[in-house]
Amino acid sequence: MATNRTFTMIKPDAFADGNTGAILSMIEKAGFKLIAAKLTHLTAETAGKFYAVHSERPFYNDLCKYMSSGPIVAVILEKENAVADFRTLIGATNPANAEDGTIRKIFARSIEANAVHGSDSDENAAIEGSFFFSELERI
Ligand code: CMP
Repeated sequence: MATNRTFTMIKPDAFADGNTGAILSMIEKAGFKLIAAKLTHLTAETAGKFYAVHSERPFYNDLCKYMSSGPIVAVILEKENAVADFRTLIGATNPANAEDGTIRKIFARSIEANAVHGSDSDENAAIEGSFFFSELERI
């Protein structure tokens, strides 16, 4: 399996709960290399652009409000089979359905405030990484 990249955000709930370090530690211990990382604070508008694919979903407005409610940490990660392995590490979107030991099971508050984002394909990982990081920062 080729080395590839994925993109994650540590979301406002996990950041506010002081879990950024613990989550990054779990990610590193699982074999992911940090390529780029940025602490930032989305506006509702930038959150809306990032999650535009969900704009027709009933939870979209609340999601944009929540994602702009506090700081987030955006990170590009590298590993063999990065996208699939990272989704296994974080667990199901709804923490109630996440496997024991996954990041969402341990740290998430709810289906919306679910601690971390993880890209769902190589294509979206590249799009999402370039949403936050310049070409130079992604080397
Ligand atoms: P994420 O993996 O970042 O992708 C879209 C986000 O929308 C998801 O995590 C959750 O934060 C949120 N989300 C997905 N489904 C629901 C839902 N049914 N109700 C509320 N929020 C949701």
